[in-house]
Amino acid sequence: MDQPQSCGSKPLTQEVEPGTYFWCSCGLSTNQPFCDGAHKGTGFSPVKLVVEEKKKIFWCMCKASKNGAHCDGSHK
Ligand code: FES
Repeated sequence: MDQPQSCGSKPLTQEVEPGTYFWCSCGLSTNQPFCDGAHKGTGFSPVKLVVEEKKKIFWCMCKASKNGAHCDGSHK
């Protein structure tokens, strides 16, 4: 698997509580935007994100962002 699988053409906006999250970078998880272990054997790994305070996150769903789990507009 050379390229991640896109899971959408726009970011997923979510108000998240403080905690540790693992964003799916491969696009194969059935629990988007989070890793469910489906990346095994693909060469992709989840991206860990620690959220210190409740805030809105724009999760990258196209999996092309250069800013990790965060949308950077690459889906356009
Ligand atoms: S399932 Fe995609 S990174 Fe884990």
